Formats: sequence, structure tokens, C-alpha cells
Amino acid sequence: MKLKDLPNKRGYFGAYGGRFVPETLVEPLNELEKAFAKARTDLSFQKEFRELLRRFAGRPTSLLFAKNLTKRLKGPRIFLKREDLCHTGAHKVNNTIGQCLLAKTLGKTRIIAETGAGQHGVATATTCALMGLRCEVYMGAEDMERQALNVFRMRSMGARVIPVNTGSCTLKDAINEALRDWVANVKNTFYVLGSVVGPHPYPWVVREFQSVIGQEVILQMREFQATNPDALVACVGGGSNSIGLFAPFYDKKKVKFIGVEAGGSGIKTQKHAATLCAGSPGVLHGSYTYLLQDTHGQILGTHSVSAGLDYPAVGPEHAFYKDSGRAEYVSVTDKQALEGFCLLNETEGLSPALESAHAIGYLPYLARKMKPSQSVVVCLSGRGDKDMVQLQELL
Ligand SMILES: Cc1ncc(COP(=O)(O)O)c(C=O)c1O
Repeated sequence: MKLKDLPNKRGYFGAYGGRFVPETLVEPLNELEKAFAKARTDLSFQKEFRELLRRFAGRPTSLLFAKNLTKRLKGPRIFLKREDLCHTGAHKVNNTIGQCLLAKTLGKTRIIAETGAGQHGVATATTCALMGLRCEVYMGAEDMERQALNVFRMRSMGARVIPVNTGSCTLKDAINEALRDWVANVKNTFYVLGSVVGPHPYPWVVREFQSVIGQEVILQMREFQATNPDALVACVGGGSNSIGLFAPFYDKKKVKFIGVEAGGSGIKTQKHAATLCAGSPGVLHGSYTYLLQDTHGQILGTHSVSAGLDYPAVGPEHAFYKDSGRAEYVSVTDKQALEGFCLLNETEGLSPALESAHAIGYLPYLARKMKPSQSVVVCLSGRGDKDMVQLQELL
């Protein structure tokens, strides 16, 4: 199968994906699908999107050869794709610019979003401020506490942040509430979803907007070597920074994909969020995908030191990559992620977000399996400023 066939016309990646939603949402999802299909080939939409990525978000982000980290780990040459340099501090803004432009073409004036680590919320609030759109963000009460700085940032941009006190008070519950709001307000409201999850066409829309990451890497790698990298590594929450890096390489079968999930206290403890490593297929948030669930299909509680990875489902495209063997998924514990954070600070003078620190935390293990003649690109999905207060306590 080629990337252009993913998803198929019904929104499936192999067996995964689809659209499991109440009837009220069928029409707005059809409307979104149509608008996006048109926007992909609409020159003026594409021009405006590219211009905003360049002038507002600061793209292209650099690809950095991590010389000291490579030397320390004595493995493959390590390159960092610097999404931490994006405006607002993470890759999320690539997608919010695209979706807010779509909202404008559909004449919607009110934007809603969910957020976990707050990065998608901040990116949405920022884009709405730029485009003059009203913005309301659902956020789990627990996440509001651990990412208090981002709550303040969203409010400073004029967004209303709505605390979610149901369930585990984290990202899953925020998505539930955003979907509920959308069902009730479809007429004037556009739901800006923050990852490659949810009902069709969201996993496709978000993948396409985030693919700018991998597209840039393909060009930038040529400055360093004539061949493609041997492996790509990225953390996986819902799965958008990883799919954004992986998808443009999908048809280059020699390039290995490695997704790093949140192992929390260890996947045997049940205090983790490693959906692909330890979950099974089921339906959540409108999509058939891997979930952490009990034998009755009830969603299990999750844990991760990083709010952005603390989610019991994953994008359906990843579920397909897993089953087809196109990608390998591994998990990194909270402790290993914190070691990853320190390692990158010490060797390269860069402070990764706790989410990205999971990808870095896997490198010492990967380095042992690869040769110095090989190369690996790691997505540094965001910067750690938002996590500093939490890190100060943890370290
Ligand atoms: C910096 C950063 N990286 C990664 C993620 C995980 O999301 P995704 O898997 O969609 O890239 C988040 C989510 O909030 C994030 O803020």
C-alpha cells in the first residue's frame, strides 16, 4: 500500500479509523472533509498556509546534527528536528494554523479545542488571536494544575479555558467534553482537534498539516548526506508529531520508524499510557484504534509524567503501522524520560519538553543496536519551558 491510499475513501487505515459518531456530527464531518479536500489543491489556501507557517510559526525549523550527543552515545549520527523552535514552543501550531484557516473558509466564528499539556491549547489560542476568532479550550483539571503556565498563556491570548472535572481529569476527558460541545453547537463552531485521533477526516487532516515536519527533513538531510536517514524516532501521545515526521517517508521502506510511548512507572504496573505496546483494538472518540481498556471495553486509567502523552488511545494510522509492521513501538518510563531530559541538556544545551524527552530517553538503547555509519532523526517536538516547575520538583 502507498501513502496516497491511506486513509481510504471511508477513512480507514487498514482495519483502523472510520467514523463512530452521533448523527449530529455526520454532516459537519462531511463538510470538513469536503473543505479539506478542496483546500489541498486550492492554490490560494496553500499559499496562505505556507506563508503563515513561514512568517508566523517560524518555519522551516532547523535540522541540527547533535554532535555531542552522538559522541556520548557512541552509536549512529543523531539529528534533531527542532520543532521546539516553532512559535508557541511545539509542533502543534502547524496544525492549528491549517485548521483555523479551514474554519474561516467554512465561515465558523467560534473555535473549540481540547488540550493535554496545554501546547495545543496555546497554539489554538494564539492562532485564534491572530485570525480574530473566538476560542474556548477544554482542559482536564489535573492537567491545568501540572501545566499552569500554559493555562495562563491561553488566557492571556483571550481564550476561555474550561476545566474538566470528569473521569481522570486529563486529555481523554477534555476530548469528551469538546465533542459534547460540538454536538450541541455545530452551526457556528469548528472543533480544532490537536492530534491524529478522532473520527475521519481528522486523522488525515492533522497528518497532512503536520507532514511539513517530514517534508522538511527530506530536504534538510541532503545538506548532511546523500541518503535518507536509517531511522526516525518520535514520541507518541495521540501521534501527530510522529506521523508528521514518519508519513512523508512512508514509501521509503528502508527508513525505520520508531514510536516511543509513555511507559509511566513501567508497563507491568498498569500505571502507564503505552497504548500500542500494551493495548488492544476498540472504539474511542469516534475511531477504531488501539486502546487501554479492560475486558468489558471500559477505558483504563493512565499515567505519565508528561501530560501530552497521558492518553489511553492513539491515532488509527499508528494502529495500522503497528499491525502491518511498518513501525516499531517501544515505551520509555518516567524515569528514563527524565534521564533523557538531563542527557539533552548536558550534551546539547537543549531542554526538551517532557513529551520529547521520551524520544531522547530511548536513544541510549537504540544507539547500542545501530552502527556509527548509520543516522537517525529524532523529533524534538517541543521545548521544556512549560515543564520547568514540575521538573524542578521531580529532579
Ligand atoms: C511537545 C509535545 N510533544 C508531543 C505531544 C504529544 O502529542 P502528539 O503525539 O500528537 O504529537 C504533545 C502533546 O501535547 C506535546 O505538547
